[in-house]
Amino acid sequence: MKPQQKQEYLEEYEILKKKGKPFFPYAVLKDSVMMLIVVGVIIAMSLLLGAEQGPKADPTTTTYVPRPEWYFFFLFELLRLIKPPELVPIATIGIPTFCMVALLLLPFYDRGAERRPERRPLATTAGILTILAMGYLTFSGATAGSPTEIDMKVAPQYKAGSEVVAGSGCLACHKLGENGNNGPGPELTHIGSRIPRAAIVRSVEIGPSIMPSFRELPKKKLNELADFLSSLH
Ligand code: HEC
Repeated sequence: MKPQQKQEYLEEYEILKKKGKPFFPYAVLKDSVMMLIVVGVIIAMSLLLGAEQGPKADPTTTTYVPRPEWYFFFLFELLRLIKPPELVPIATIGIPTFCMVALLLLPFYDRGAERRPERRPLATTAGILTILAMGYLTFSGATAGSPTEIDMKVAPQYKAGSEVVAGSGCLACHKLGENGNNGPGPELTHIGSRIPRAAIVRSVEIGPSIMPSFRELPKKKLNELADFLSSLH
């Protein structure tokens, strides 16, 4: 801003300030009334509509697929996009912390006097890009499958089964292609060529040694799972 511009701005500001109303009590009153209305609406909605609480927590479940609240979908998606384990701390801690600190320090490094968005191209572009990126990540996080989704080519008729495997926590102990942990269970990548379908079903139902039993899986899901695993050659 040029000195003359600055002078004009300050004079205009002075005039407007004289014309205006003081912050206390006018603006404070307005804010307080609005706050009361918002709280009142929330209380009324919770009394009239209630909140959906979902099923009771079951600490013994092995088929639970954790999903974050919608406002964390962008972080959730960021974590999904960043595959190599050594980069995970950057996605979970690095990027969010960097953004928070950058925001906190904004008044110290953005010393421009301009306030109109169109005169602050850098800040405006950065802001719009951030909103777009978060919007995109939120959308893809919301529409993505389970976080443990199996990342491999699956024929359409086995898709359902692969989702059962992904959603049942099998990957915690078994490796399947590039997915899951290598052990304590044996690799399942070619399980179909190693043991017959009936043996797969038996293993899943019984849960040999430390493997939990998945007997409580509905028959349909168990069949889909077995179809999928026995197709892996
Ligand atoms: C807590 C870890 C764990 C989980 C979770 C787990 N397994 Fe296992 N699984 C094992 C272990 C360990 C073995 C080997 C047992 C043995 O050697 O007797 C095994 C064996 C198997 C076998 C037999 C493999 C073979 O080569 O004979 C199959 C099939 C199998 N698991 C499928 C599954 C499926 C499907 C799921 C998910 C529904 C699953 N497992 C979940 C640990 C696990």
